[in-house]
Amino acid sequence: MKVLVPTDGSDQSMKAVDRALELAERMGAEITLMSVAYYAKDDFDDMPPYVQDKLEAEAAAALKKAGAYCNGKGVKVEMVLEAGLVPANNIIRKAEEGKFDRIVMGSTGITGLKRALMGSTAAKVVAQAPCEVTVVR
Ligand SMILES: Nc1ncnc2c1ncn2[C@@H]1O[C@H](COP(=O)(O)OP(=O)(O)OP(=O)(O)O)[C@@H](O)[C@H]1O
Ligand SMILES: [Mg+2]
Repeated sequence: MKVLVPTDGSDQSMKAVDRALELAERMGAEITLMSVAYYAKDDFDDMPPYVQDKLEAEAAAALKKAGAYCNGKGVKVEMVLEAGLVPANNIIRKAEEGKFDRIVMGSTGITGLKRALMGSTAAKVVAQAPCEVTVVR
């Protein structure tokens, strides 16, 4: 079983990592961690390089944190770093192209509004993913 775990470094996404580790232990699931550096404008190429670097560094840090956590538990993982305008679109495309069986993600992320039932990334992935989605609360 191939499991895709999108992570933005938030506590909620780390709970999703824990859930994926359980699947690895119980069912031998292969875990791929994915972080998307995202930008609010569609003119990434016009942004000053230091802004691009900052966004990419944040996504890379989220990935590194989750990867180190998994390795610390003795589980080897694949890691994917992408950049995009809408992270959900990258996640859905990756799930399709990589023929993943399941996506495990947090219900909220770094915005983490308590009143929000679900963040916009989680809502879009649940609605459009080509596979099962586990949303961790
Ligand atoms: N840039 C990203 N790269 C990879 N995974 C992400 C990214 N953003 C969110 N996720 C995943 O989606 C989950 C839900 O986050 P989401 O972005 O939907 O909520 P939010 O940040 O609280 O709200 P919003 O982004 O809508 O303001 C996270 O726990 C994480 O698993
Ligand atoms: Mg978010």
